Amino acid sequence: MVTPEGRIAVVGTGVIGISWAACFLAQGYEVAATDPAPGAEARLRKRVEDFWPAMERMGLAQGASPARLSFHEQVGAAVEGAVFIQENGPERVDIKRATMQQIDASAPADTVIATSSSGIRISDIQDAATRPERILLGHPFNPPHLIPLVEVVGGRLTSPQAIEHAMQFYSAIGKKPILLQKEVKGHIANRLQAALWREAFHLVEQGVASVNDIDTAIAHGPGLRWALLGPFMNLHLSGGEGGIKHVLEHLGPPIEEWWEDLGEVSLTPEMIARFAQGVDEEIGSAQLEDIVGDRDAILLDMLSQKARSRLIP
Ligand SMILES: NC(=O)c1ccc[n+]([C@@H]2O[C@H](COP(=O)([O-])OP(=O)(O)OC[C@H]3O[C@@H](n4cnc5c(N)ncnc54)[C@H](O)[C@@H]3O)[C@@H](O)[C@H]2O)c1
Repeated sequence: MVTPEGRIAVVGTGVIGISWAACFLAQGYEVAATDPAPGAEARLRKRVEDFWPAMERMGLAQGASPARLSFHEQVGAAVEGAVFIQENGPERVDIKRATMQQIDASAPADTVIATSSSGIRISDIQDAATRPERILLGHPFNPPHLIPLVEVVGGRLTSPQAIEHAMQFYSAIGKKPILLQKEVKGHIANRLQAALWREAFHLVEQGVASVNDIDTAIAHGPGLRWALLGPFMNLHLSGGEGGIKHVLEHLGPPIEEWWEDLGEVSLTPEMIARFAQGVDEEIGSAQLEDIVGDRDAILLDMLSQKARSRLIP
C-alpha cells in the first residue's frame, strides 16, 4: 500500500478526537491536531501510544507512525493544507458554529470538513462558514480507531460532491460509512440503541429483570448475532426457506402486540441510581480495565475474522 499523501486535521482531541487521530495515523496519514485544553498534547500523544499495539494488530499502512502526529495551538495552523478535517469539539451548537467558522477561514477551499457530532444537525451549524457546502456529518462509533461504522449526512447546504468525497474517504481508510438520506436526531445507530435502552430500562423499572439479567439477555443472546449481521438479515435467517417474509407473516401479529405493550421510562435520579447500582453489582470484584481490555481484544479478533468471512459486508 502506498503511503497516503497529505495530512488530516483533527480538531478537538478528547475521547473521540484522540481515537480518530490513532486511526488516521495507522492509515499512514500525517495528522495535525489541535485542542485548547491545558495538557491536551501530552494526553493525545500518550493515548495514541497506548492505542498503537491495537492499531498494529489491525494492520498499519506503509510508513504509518505516531511520529507523523503534530500538535498546534491554533485551529488555523492545524487545518492549513489539510486534505480532510475531522471536528470533535464539545457537543454545543454555539461552539460547533464558532469552530466551523475558524476551520473554514483557514482550510483549503475545497477540503471537506466532517463533524463527529452525536446529535447536532449540520443545517444548524454549516451556515456559520463561508463555504457551507463542504461541511457534513461523519459520526463515528466509540472508539473510532476500532469500530468501522461512520454515519454520513449532509445539511441543507452540503454539496453532493462533498458527500461523495467523504463516503470514498471513509471507505478508503477501512471504515464502513452509511449515508443517511435525511437529517434525523441521533442519526441511525443511536436511535436504534435508544429504542433498546428504553425497553431495557422499562423492564428493570417494572421489576421484570435485574440489570444483570438484561445484560445477560443481550450479551449472551441476540447481541452475538447482531455483531455479525443486522436485524433484517437475522430475521431473514430465522425464517428458514421462507426468509423474512415468512417470519413477518407468521410472527408479525405477536410482534405488533409486543410493540403495544412496550413501556416508557423517565431517567429520574432514583432510576439512574438503580441502574448504576445494578452495574456495580454486575462488576462485583472484577476490574473495569480488565473488562475493557478483554472487550477490545475480542473485538479485534472478531473484526479480523469478519474481514476474512463471507458475511455480507
Ligand atoms: N464520546 C462518544 O461516545 C462519542 C461518540 C461519537 C461522537 N461523539 C461526538 O464527538 C464530539 C467530541 O466528543 P468527546 O466525547 O470526544 O468529548 P470530549 O469532552 O472528550 O472532548 C471534547 C474536546 O474538545 C476540546 N475543545 C473545547 N473547546 C474546543 C474548541 N473551541 N475547539 C476545539 N476543541 C475544543 C476539549 O478540550 C476536549 O478535549 C462531540 O461532538 C460528540 O457528540 C462522541
